[in-house]
Amino acid sequence: MRAIATQAEALSDLDTVIAGRRSVRRFLPDPVPEAIIANMVRAASRAPSAHNRQPWRFHVVQDAPLKARLASAMGDKLQADRTKDGDDMAAIRQDVARSSARIIGAPVVVATCLTLEDMDAYPDDRRSHAEFLMAVQSTAMAAQILLLKAQSEGLGACWMCAPLFCAETVKNALSLPNSWQPQGLILLGWPAEPGRLRDRKPLAEIVTGIDVT
Ligand SMILES: Cc1cc2nc3c(=O)[nH]c(=O)nc-3n(C[C@H](O)[C@H](O)[C@H](O)COP(=O)(O)O)c2cc1C
Repeated sequence: MRAIATQAEALSDLDTVIAGRRSVRRFLPDPVPEAIIANMVRAASRAPSAHNRQPWRFHVVQDAPLKARLASAMGDKLQADRTKDGDDMAAIRQDVARSSARIIGAPVVVATCLTLEDMDAYPDDRRSHAEFLMAVQSTAMAAQILLLKAQSEGLGACWMCAPLFCAETVKNALSLPNSWQPQGLILLGWPAEPGRLRDRKPLAEIVTGIDVT
């Protein structure tokens, strides 16, 4: 009986964490204890992965000058890309400043990467692409655990996709191993704002095969 109650409690805890999670983009300056970050990564490493190859890699950055160098290098790349697109310079500068402020303002930045080192290799593009997608999917599953663990610890977190657009810049700025492919930055810290509850599509729009009305 107790086991069943405990399982139900655990489930309702999970529901609470899932329902309470929001992307948080502004943080208090207070540091996050490393033990908490280590626990989060440990939990993330329990994610399922294709062939159990665990292609995820995490580089945790707390050092303020390093975060500033990362933000500056990424900002330069963003500015160069958007200048080439012919975008308005004032809008570009605003975008760069906003992105930099977010990175610098997060006490912890987790560069979330994948490596194909342990994945299967194929001679053709079709299967190579499928294998790459498996690594992306597996890494995203681990990252989701990180986001949910952050919520359960009372931390705020937000995934930033910018590294996909400047992977080499991120690799160089953080001196990441050559095989690590940056997928995103997870910004972490004690929340300075609750985060906005964003709408979700109605279930009827996203699921077929069962009655969800
Ligand atoms: C793959 C991915 C990339 C994202 N990239 C960014 C980003 O670059 N900047 C940002 O502010 N939020 C980013 N987000 C957060 C989304 O904007 C956010 O999850 C979405 O608006 C829903 O809000 P919620 O997380 O609060 O429920 C990203 C989320 C995912 C999953």
